[in-house]
Amino acid sequence: MNILGLESSCDETAAAVVSDGRQVLSSVVASQVETHERYGGVVPELASREHLRAIVPVVDQALAQANVPIDAVAVTQGPGLVGSLLVGITFAKAFAMARGIPLIPVNHLEGHIHAVLLEHPETELPALALIVSGGHTHFYRCEANFRYELLSRTRDDAAGEAYDKVAKLLGYAYPGGPILDQLAPFGNPKAVKFTRAKMSGNSLDLSFSGIKTAVLRWTEARDMQAEVAARRALVRPTLAELRAATPQPTLDLIASFQATIIDELLSRVRVFAEDLDLTNVIISGGVACNAGLRAAARRLPYDISFPTPKLSTDNAAMIAAAAYPRFLAGHTAGPDLRPKANFSLA
Ligand code: KG4
Ligand code: ZN
Repeated sequence: MNILGLESSCDETAAAVVSDGRQVLSSVVASQVETHERYGGVVPELASREHLRAIVPVVDQALAQANVPIDAVAVTQGPGLVGSLLVGITFAKAFAMARGIPLIPVNHLEGHIHAVLLEHPETELPALALIVSGGHTHFYRCEANFRYELLSRTRDDAAGEAYDKVAKLLGYAYPGGPILDQLAPFGNPKAVKFTRAKMSGNSLDLSFSGIKTAVLRWTEARDMQAEVAARRALVRPTLAELRAATPQPTLDLIASFQATIIDELLSRVRVFAEDLDLTNVIISGGVACNAGLRAAARRLPYDISFPTPKLSTDNAAMIAAAAYPRFLAGHTAGPDLRPKANFSLA
């Protein structure tokens, strides 16, 4: 069964064809990074407009590359930006109606989980899943039959958002996560100590806004304007140029920031895995590309699976993969399908 998947929940317009939820026949992603980079974050109105521009050529390319008959169309229903979701959903409805094929709505977070299951079908459930991206930092216990229990989540910024905001305030380009990840190995991760947030209620919830504010205070306590301005002036710098433009104290700050984020995430992986007796752990979402996180996770005594980097960030192959078991269970939708900006997985 060949499913065309569509993803337009944030700032990537993506289409993919996946056979039987396993084999990726094509996966096309049009990124809007260039549109949003001068704002240092995603601008919703611009995102919808870019999705409208990109969706037809992206789908055409995915269909041409796969070159197979399409049996169903799957689309991200949420969570995400409502204007962005609408573009994918409207396209998917029209496509399903015109071809007389089923329409399958998919939760974006279930998609991120299937980005791992797609490549690691041997992963046994129940499993612990950490979805960590620019919009989410959520821990779930995943069971068979689409049952998910939310274990903890961030109360404020997502981890990727914290990376992007810290990078922006230090004068690096958007998205900052990959840049800070590449610079972190050159600094001392123990140089700067961050106070961790104390949580009322669920003590295992996360908070990253305090760490971001601590970085802001750190920069304010130093005379960094010239240093930051010099980095902002760089045009598409190489890693060597970025490193040359980053004095050692700033490298140490970046390394300490990264170490703190990784510890916040993996300390909870340890607690949940032990408390709930889960040995299979799935880590997915854009921040799952982080080299430091991957290396530290591999040292834990669990079966930890990450998607390959191109399936870690937003894509449509994960949507088509997640749709397959949903379709088999009869979870299809009609022409009244609406976006759910706050679609919860649990
Ligand atoms: O999953 P994704 O493509 O989109 C969302 O659903 O948010 O994730 C994008 C986020 C951005 O915040 C980006 O900075 C972050 O993932 N990211 C990283 C790395 N690669 C991407 N953060 C830290 N280290 C990385 N290597
Ligand atoms: Zn995502």
